Amino acid sequence: MTDTSAWLPDQTTTGAWVPDETDTTRPSAARVYDFLLGGGHNFAADRAAAARIEQVLPNARRVARSNRAFLRRAVRYMASQGITRFLDLGSGIPTVGNVHEIARDANPDSRVVYVDFESVAVAHSRLLLDGDERTAVVEADLTDPDTVLADEDVRALLDTDEPVGLLLVAVFHFVPDHKDPAGLVHKYLSALPAGSLAAISHLTADHDPEGMAEVAETMATSPNPMFFRPLGQITPLFAGLDLVEPGLVDADLWRPEPGSTDPEDPARGVYAGVGRVRR
Ligand SMILES: C[S@@+](CC[C@H](N)C(=O)[O-])C[C@H]1O[C@@H](n2cnc3c(N)ncnc32)[C@H](O)[C@@H]1O
Repeated sequence: MTDTSAWLPDQTTTGAWVPDETDTTRPSAARVYDFLLGGGHNFAADRAAAARIEQVLPNARRVARSNRAFLRRAVRYMASQGITRFLDLGSGIPTVGNVHEIARDANPDSRVVYVDFESVAVAHSRLLLDGDERTAVVEADLTDPDTVLADEDVRALLDTDEPVGLLLVAVFHFVPDHKDPAGLVHKYLSALPAGSLAAISHLTADHDPEGMAEVAETMATSPNPMFFRPLGQITPLFAGLDLVEPGLVDADLWRPEPGSTDPEDPARGVYAGVGRVRR
């Protein structure tokens, strides 16, 4: 697996990964998450927001890492099921263990289309993947599925009989109820070839309502307000999927690898599951 940390720039550096139109004065979800994961693509406003979040949620870094580790295991699982095509919606800023790197460990021909609407995430992904003909980076809002699904790179990925791995990881808590999260998932699932798999994770306030309410307040004035949902509202996102074992669980408990987590003390705060698209 490629270790991208070696070329991560200093946090104060600007360059091609910072498009001119980027608003560096307000925190963005992609950059706050990057900071919590130990990345270098973030600005003072993002670090200040992360500091406020960590004050009320001391395990924020642990939860972020737990989610990212779930993403890696889910991709590995999908690859083990023969999936070589991935559509990653809300892909974020590239960090160690990107989807194409993990997928290619299993099958070097794997193809990945990354989709995000955050300028730094898109610019940095394009820098990383420049010249890689089996990956594409699309700048689009996933709450507009007609536009996403009409994109030529997305169509090229989906317009075959080969099953696809759809990744909706740590993204639906940015989608408000009025955008109909379950309806959006349904629309994307309907566009997938038979045999496809989907991975979904979602932050919840179930275990720390007060702390998460303050996190939501911190992000409320950012371009990415957050909507933490209880398990009962996350379960419907999986309506079109036959969940594989162990179902919808704390991310740390989804097929943990030996030594990766203490089953008696999982990080709490993000639910995750993988399912096979029902036809
Ligand atoms: C917390 S990061 C998750 C990144 C990656 N999926 C992971 O789990 O490691 C959430 C990402 O979703 C993106 N995002 C949020 N709402 C989005 C939307 N409506 N359309 C596209 N991307 C979105 C953010 O810009 C951010 O990069």
